[in-house]
Amino acid sequence: MDSILVRGNGPLSGQIPIAGAKNACLALMPATLLSEEPLTLTNAPRLSDIRTMTQLLASLGAEVTALQDGKVLATSCHGEITPVADYDIVRKMRASNLVLGPLLARLGHAVVSLPGGCAIGARPMDIHIDALSALGAEIELKDGYLHATTRGGLKGATHQMRFASVGATENFLMAAVLAKGSSVLKNAAREPEIVDLARCLRAMGAEIEGEGTSEITIQGVDRLHGATHPVVTDRIELGTYMLAPAICGGEVECLGGRIALVESFCEKLDAAGVAVEETERGLKVRRKNGRIRAVDVVTEPFPGFPTDLQAQMMALLCTAEGTSVLEERIFENRFMHAPELMRMGAKIEVQGGHATVHGVESLKGARVMATDLRASVSLILAGLAAEGETVVSRVYHLDRGYERVEDKLRAVGAQIERVRDE
Ligand code: UD1
Repeated sequence: MDSILVRGNGPLSGQIPIAGAKNACLALMPATLLSEEPLTLTNAPRLSDIRTMTQLLASLGAEVTALQDGKVLATSCHGEITPVADYDIVRKMRASNLVLGPLLARLGHAVVSLPGGCAIGARPMDIHIDALSALGAEIELKDGYLHATTRGGLKGATHQMRFASVGATENFLMAAVLAKGSSVLKNAAREPEIVDLARCLRAMGAEIEGEGTSEITIQGVDRLHGATHPVVTDRIELGTYMLAPAICGGEVECLGGRIALVESFCEKLDAAGVAVEETERGLKVRRKNGRIRAVDVVTEPFPGFPTDLQAQMMALLCTAEGTSVLEERIFENRFMHAPELMRMGAKIEVQGGHATVHGVESLKGARVMATDLRASVSLILAGLAAEGETVVSRVYHLDRGYERVEDKLRAVGAQIERVRDE
């Protein structure tokens, strides 16, 4: 298994291009199941999660061809569809559950494995099941698989989710676009990735209004056609690289970044003493002056502070002046990076959903282990600021969500390399 070796070496300077959003692309790809005509996605990120979704869609009978070094995904689904998402693929990636809605919409039935345990909490499927059941699906759990059927297809309905789940909103949208009649989803998730999915579906001929608000209205249509759609910028990759100059000093411009994607995150950066300026090409980030100040952070659904940036923010706050409290409200058990950061000299106490970070003057390099995708990049960020050498092992988590992380950071002056194991 590969490791990443990082040496702390001071201020960074230059530009980092931000890729298309992993989480948007993982919802857009299954939309190909909704039409017989081709769907082309541009600005796609080159990540192992995208390859897993490609594999899953291929197993269902869709074609996905990566063009232009993976930046363009040409997809189509005109032949026979196998409506079974196998455990062996689904267990690798929870987002595999996003084929459930489109399969039900196109075929009226689907068999999708439950994703199983996940390192960052239980992550059940009840909200998805309730949302699709409201559209007339009958869903049963047998042998670890959800067996979903409909009597004569899906029918539009009004449904209120108990929590604004991102994935359940996406499944509901992809199911309702081909349902008979109109649907309203209340307490819908408002993430930019949902807005991106709605735009793509609309380009395919769907009738959707209200995306980006907590009430989405969908008028079902008989069929969808092909489209070409650019994937929205990855706000989590953006926020991650914005933290690099915040932690190391210097100034970095994140190309393609927009404040609207990371507004609540920018507010916390401002309070911590980090300046963010929107330019024509992206976001320019630098530390204002002196040491970073402690700030409290609560993770919430969009537009709140994203849970997917909590670990990286903790890396910044480890060397802040004062004590910060981070409260994780989206996932249970999402502080597994804390003990690893402590190996680097951070002072952190974790109690339930709260982590209290007492800022120290500096961190020290150490051997640490990546436990999940965002945790792994937080350890790299911490390593950039630490004295000496940090080796982050188990970086396969990293490759799920960050393309060419070493190249991007090296281009702004970081000392970072991948060590390939024999
Ligand atoms: C998506 C993102 C993930 C991000 C998360 C929250 C993708 C591919 N992944 O995941 O990176 O961290 O949003 O912003 O887009 N829940 C239930 N029952 C359900 C569904 C969810 O209890 O049926 C719970 C989950 O356990 C979790 C919370 O709701 O505690 C949020 O989950 P959800 O918004 O559904 O996240 P995902 O779509 O899985």
